[in-house]
Amino acid sequence: MKPRSISIFAIGFLLLGAAGTAFSHGPGDDGSQIDLVVNTPEEDVTLEAGLAAWDRIYTVTSHPRCSNCHTDERNEPMWSGPSYGKTRPHGMNINAGDSRIGVETIFCSTCHVQSTAPNTVRHAAPHTGHPWMLAPVEFNWFGQTSETVCAQMRDPERNGGRNGDDLVEHIIHDAEIKAFITWGFNPGGGREPAPGTMQEHLDDMVAWTAAGMPCPVDGD
Ligand code: HEC
Ligand code: HEC
Repeated sequence: MKPRSISIFAIGFLLLGAAGTAFSHGPGDDGSQIDLVVNTPEEDVTLEAGLAAWDRIYTVTSHPRCSNCHTDERNEPMWSGPSYGKTRPHGMNINAGDSRIGVETIFCSTCHVQSTAPNTVRHAAPHTGHPWMLAPVEFNWFGQTSETVCAQMRDPERNGGRNGDDLVEHIIHDAEIKAFITWGFNPGGGREPAPGTMQEHLDDMVAWTAAGMPCPVDGD
């Protein structure tokens, strides 16, 4: 593993010699620091290893803590997963509208306040350091196959204009402001977290992008 410094993240990063670049953030939901390290692979990542990383990424992106906000043009947030019972659209007839933040009906922020405080209360509306909203409709993951989500995530036309490095930096930035990915791995309120840790997800994204963002079809 060799260190890689990302200088645009001026706040709170320290170099850890051979370990990589560590990003230090404020207190996590449980009061601890969220320290992410970008472990840049020293050797080429094989197609096989890249595809294995993608499979793990897909278990994260298809988990309800992520996909419930990454929904289609019906603009419905979803309630699903072991802590929600049967999969269904958000209660109370909530619809995010084309704005994806509920401008058309009731703002998500009416209930989902912006706060980095811990999400401790069961059945309370979750909150993060970023205003709550659905992901843009192009990032539709709910109920989608691995191949479909992979094709979307590597397509700059449909992923917010990001290349591989940008996708990695998106995760670092999320941890800095305690936004949605950070919440997905530590949702609180008795909700089942996305599988693995945020560090493991970052490692997988680094490996997958280093391998050239292969999708299952490329392995056939
Ligand atoms: C509260 C709703 C919400 C949740 C929960 C959420 N996201 Fe998102 N996501 C968004 C929004 C909004 C954007 C658009 C922000 C941007 O592009 O900068 C986004 C964008 C993204 C992107 C970049 C674009 C793309 O699709 O390629 C990735 C990657 C991503 N989210 C991953 C995740 C992962 C992984 C989780 C779960 C651990 C998650 N998100 C949970 C709302 C959410
Ligand atoms: C009237 C209050 C209210 C409004 C407005 C509201 N929500 Fe919620 N939302 C809640 C509550 C309460 C929960 C938690 C339900 C539970 O845990 O039983 C929740 C949960 C969620 C979840 C589930 C998160 C998970 O764990 O997977 C998503 C996604 C969500 N809301 C998205 C939205 C979006 C997007 C908007 C705006 C379009 C919105 N909500 C507007 C009250 C609201």
